[in-house]
This record gives sequence, structure tokens and C-alpha cells, in this order.
Amino acid sequence: MSAKDDKFETRAISQGRMSDAHFGAVNTPVYRASTILYPSLDALEANDQPYTYGRRGTPTTRSFEDAISSLEGAAKTVSVTSGIQAIGLAILSVCSAGDHLLMVDSCYEPTRNLCDRALRRWGITTSYYAPTDDITPHLRPNTRAVFCESPGSLTFELQDIAAIVKAAHGHENGRGGASVLMDNTWATPLFFQPLKHGVDLSIQAATKYIGGHADVMLGYVSANESHAARLHHLHGDLGLYASGDDCFLGLRGLRTLSVRLARHQETALALARWLQARPEVARILYPALESDPGHALWRQYFSGACGLFGLVLKPAPQPAIAAFIDGLRHFGIGYSWGGFESLIVPAHIKRTARPFTAEGPVLRIHAGLEDAGDLIADLEKGLQRLKSKS
Ligand SMILES: Cc1ncc(COP(=O)(O)O)c(C=O)c1O
Repeated sequence: MSAKDDKFETRAISQGRMSDAHFGAVNTPVYRASTILYPSLDALEANDQPYTYGRRGTPTTRSFEDAISSLEGAAKTVSVTSGIQAIGLAILSVCSAGDHLLMVDSCYEPTRNLCDRALRRWGITTSYYAPTDDITPHLRPNTRAVFCESPGSLTFELQDIAAIVKAAHGHENGRGGASVLMDNTWATPLFFQPLKHGVDLSIQAATKYIGGHADVMLGYVSANESHAARLHHLHGDLGLYASGDDCFLGLRGLRTLSVRLARHQETALALARWLQARPEVARILYPALESDPGHALWRQYFSGACGLFGLVLKPAPQPAIAAFIDGLRHFGIGYSWGGFESLIVPAHIKRTARPFTAEGPVLRIHAGLEDAGDLIADLEKGLQRLKSKS
């Protein structure tokens, strides 16, 4: 048996460790380095030292990337300073001027901004498809990449990844098919491993669950064999990197990812089920719920669900929504998610391919690691405030 046969939970603990090289320290410590010294001219000319210059990696960044590659089943992982940087890097590693990018309509909004502003200026055209569409009619002769985010982080619609991979890879664009890129931040590699389903580049905003403590900005892209070299080269050519401090926090978070996610899931399910039964609520957007339209796809592809879900309220005036949210004791009002704390924000959903229809205001909840009973009691009081102002 090798490490490859170990379960995710075991590899998240064992991979990327270099204790022998660090006086027995269990987790690789933070390396801050720009210059790396060579022992001799021969060693410099041989160019075979594991570390050559701070920007090109240190033991801390290498530990993080090696651990992630093992969990993603990747040939190569590169770390960067944020999730959105990882998204930009992944797209640019496959698309060039004149290419068409087919982007899912439920993508993270800054991904859309990147496509509609910078990529457009650089001659890469983006069009949008609804998450549940058959992508075949959307493919163009110059389609170079198809981007997925499943589920989307505001609407929680799921995508049939295998069908998308099949259509994209079989597409006759004279370049051997279109590449498939996926923002897998919602599931993390614990609950879904994109590369194992034929995706070429798996993207993660490690800022969220991998970091897990709302105190680090970090991203990575993991590539399969055929996409590894271009990703590695562009990462170097653009001078991208993530600091030793941030990779250390990512690595530290990774060690407890599976226990944290199990708890996030349990609490999210408890909150979602409780909210679903409330008269003020029109519906819950959470694929782990049996009633969710994406539940069958979720069961097919995912081994779990994180703590992020949507809440569609019945129509209510803005002051009632404000009274509900502002008075909550345990839910912070803030963007982001994946930390230990509960959050709530309004979901402003932008669509251009097909409208997303909702019965009333849509909110997004992140179920943190607090006691589920305390969170429910807080929400109950909030809904009473909402009712009294409606
Ligand atoms: C689904 C998704 N992808 C990517 C990102 C971007 O991550 P970062 O904030 O680290 O750039 C976010 C951030 O909220 C996100 O929700």
C-alpha cells in the first residue's frame, strides 16, 4: 500500500510533510526567502537544486502544493495570492487572443468582471451558458475553454460535469478539443475532485475552507498532465507566487479540513431543514436537501456539502429584511465564507444567459462552527423581527 491508496482524510494529514528536513517539526515551518544560496558554481550551473529563488518556491510553498496535488490527483499545483488570481491564471494558461471562452452564467461575479473587462480587451471573447444547459450549441469553432462552477456560490445550481467534459473535449476546434476549467471552491477537493472527472484545471479559492479561519487570502490551480507545463510556465512568466506565511496557513488549515467540513455540513443541513419549514421562507437553495432540483446530480458527483447555502424569502420590504439581518447575534454581515464563523449577506444575482427567478429576496448563509441550536434560536428571533416589520 502506498500513500495513493490512503483515504483523503489520511492524505490531508500525511502529505506535504518534511519533518526530517526541519528538526522534526511536524508541519513545514514558514520560510521567508528571496535569495537562495548555492554551495558552488558547479551546483549553480547544474541547475538541479530543489529551490533556486524565493518566487519559484520554498519548502513551505512546496509542502502546500505537494499536499494539494495529492488530494486533487494533480500532476502540478501552483499557489497564488487569491482565488480570483487562480481563476485568471487558469484561463490565461489555455486561452489566447482570438479564442472564445464559454463561461457558466452562475459564476462568481468577479470572474464575470474579469471576462467582460480585461479578457475582452485582450481579445478573448466570453459568452455565457446557463448551468444546466447542454453546452454543445454554445460551442464555437474558436472555443478554447469551458468554465464551470458547480454549484454556483449564489444560486447553488449544479452542473453535469461529465457531460460538459465529453462535449468540450470532443469539440472540433482544430486544437484537440476545448479545455475544461472548474472553480471547485464550494466542494473543496474533499467532496469533489474535478480532475478525476476529466476536468483539466481545478481551481480553488483556498481563502475559504482550506484556510478555514477567515485570516488568509490564497488560491491555487491544479492541473492534469496535459495542462501542467503551460500552467507552470505562465505562473513563472507572470511572476506569480504565494507567500510562505500564507501557504503555511493554507497547509495548517488543510490538516483539519475534513473535520471542519463535516461540522459545517451538519450545521448547514440543520439550519436549512429548519428554515425550509418556516412560513417566511419560499425555498432553500442547497443541493444536499432532497427537495433541491440539483440533489440527484449532487449525489452522483459529491461526497458531501459545505456550509454555504441560499435562502429565498417570501416577498418582504427592505426594512423588514434589514431588521432580520441587523439584529442577528451570531451571523456576521460580510462577503466571503469558509471560515469558522457564521455569515449572512444578500445575494445579488447577475445573469445574462437565462434569468434566475426567485419568489422574493435571496440571502446567502454560511453555517459556521457555532452550536446549531444557538444559530437556529438567533434565526428564529430574526424571523420574528422580519414578520413584525412586514
Ligand atoms: C466561488 C468563489 N470563487 C472564487 C472566489 C475568489 O476568491 P478570493 O477572494 O480568494 O479571490 C470566491 C470569493 O468569494 C468565491 O466565492
